[in-house]
Amino acid sequence: MDPKSPRVSYVEFSPFTDSRGQLVSIEENVSVPFPIARIYYLCGTPGGSRRGDHAHKTLRQVAVAVAGSCETTLDEGAGEVTVTLNGRDRGILIEPGVWHTMHTFSEDCVLLVLADQPYEEEDYIRDYDEFLRWIQRA
Ligand code: TYD
Repeated sequence: MDPKSPRVSYVEFSPFTDSRGQLVSIEENVSVPFPIARIYYLCGTPGGSRRGDHAHKTLRQVAVAVAGSCETTLDEGAGEVTVTLNGRDRGILIEPGVWHTMHTFSEDCVLLVLADQPYEEEDYIRDYDEFLRWIQRA
């Protein structure tokens, strides 16, 4: 990932670890930089499956693989970067204007997503050429 990107960055979570295992707490406006309006998770994803393949106009979201792993390809309109999500203590913050695709899911992957808005289809850009036009205007 380009560490200078204003649209994509890592978010670190601090697990509470003791002999009983780990506990990871995620608080809005603290461990993620926005109020949490929606939580969803991807699971039972067959090998070879691709999810996402879109960008958002205004939505901010953090994705964290709470089990297993997957890869996320990110594109701000000037080339792709692929990062692996495989740690329960690290998520990826995806700001608006990033074409993102999740793929290469492990069988046990559970990808948790925290978003700052309810589901609104109008916020999606699902056509890549439209995304390129949108990002040039942004
Ligand atoms: P989709 O956008 O295709 O998921 P992905 O981006 O992971 O490929 O969503 C699949 C279906 O789920 C689609 O009918 C819309 C619905 N959906 C909701 O109702 N609420 C949500 O929060 C999300 C993310 C999707």
